[in-house]
Amino acid sequence: MPRTHPDSETIRSALALAMRAPSVHNAQPWLWRLGDESLHLYVDESRWLRHTDPGGRDLLLSCGAALHHFRTAARALGWETLVHRLPDPAAPQHLAAIEFRSAAFTPEDIQLASAISTRRTDRRRFTSWEVPQAHCEAIVAAGVANGVLVSDIDSEPVRTHLLRAFEQAASQHAHDVSYAAELAQWSGRHAASQGVPARNAVALAADPTVRPFSSPGLPQAVVRDIDAAERMMLLSTSSDDRLSQLRAGEATSAVLLTATMLGLATCPLSEPMELTETRTQIRTSVLQDTGYPQIVVRVGWSVTSADPVPATPRRPLDEVLGPLDPVE
Ligand SMILES: Cc1cc2nc3c(=O)[nH]c(=O)nc-3n(C[C@H](O)[C@H](O)[C@H](O)COP(=O)(O)O)c2cc1C
Repeated sequence: MPRTHPDSETIRSALALAMRAPSVHNAQPWLWRLGDESLHLYVDESRWLRHTDPGGRDLLLSCGAALHHFRTAARALGWETLVHRLPDPAAPQHLAAIEFRSAAFTPEDIQLASAISTRRTDRRRFTSWEVPQAHCEAIVAAGVANGVLVSDIDSEPVRTHLLRAFEQAASQHAHDVSYAAELAQWSGRHAASQGVPARNAVALAADPTVRPFSSPGLPQAVVRDIDAAERMMLLSTSSDDRLSQLRAGEATSAVLLTATMLGLATCPLSEPMELTETRTQIRTSVLQDTGYPQIVVRVGWSVTSADPVPATPRRPLDEVLGPLDPVE
């Protein structure tokens, strides 16, 4: 008789890949609970970066990215996932209940899952090589298939509006002592299993999109032609509730993995979305009030002579995985 539920080894393999999901400051704010025939995702609010992310949007986006990573990994292992998002209004930390159905996988499923292990947040400058239009379209389609609108910011005036919001957010954060303390707490340490290690952060340049993580140790890429041809992809949603934010996290993962699969370097950017004023500015001047901005993904070709970006650390799976407790 065909199996109706993956065995625990298969679930652990998929979860090991889900742990590679990007998260704000590498906080990894997720918990997984295993039921008899289901798997459950919870948000770990003890890892909410309240001074960076007062609205909790990055928190939900990060969990959404982990959910999409899990679904992608499960698919490549022959399991389709049926996801009930925010299944219990009385338990807001319960983000998803996942059931399984055996399904054949395609070569594309394998390629997308393979991108999980090779994806890195690359904060260096990208080259002046154009990102082919077909690649941009594939990235946009991956986001749209996961329920968000993806605006490929290809007009210079609109890009200028977007960069101005980054500049203003950085200068507002520069005067926020609590924000700076949180950033210092979550970056720069080499040995920890969480946070942004020094070796993954680049020194502040003239680029307003670069966050000032502690003791940056990643050499900036040497790009002779300063006209970088990177693309800024703005992900937005038609509503701004928690479900939309969770879905936006799933879409962020889909965008990042699709770009990685195509050989592109990526960097998620959320700073101006963390402040009401700059987020409103993006909503008005970039989206013309048609949606709610959730995150920007910078996409481009990295310099071929540069060293690969090292993998960031993760917590052990057993710290975040446990049995489903009916009281939870
Ligand atoms: C919601 C969200 C917001 C993020 N915001 C930023 C950002 O503003 N700047 C940045 O350099 N990286 C940002 N990142 C990337 C994380 O710092 C990165 O995913 C984490 O350090 C783990 O590293 P990795 O992506 O290389 O695995 C963000 C990631 C997520 C999911």
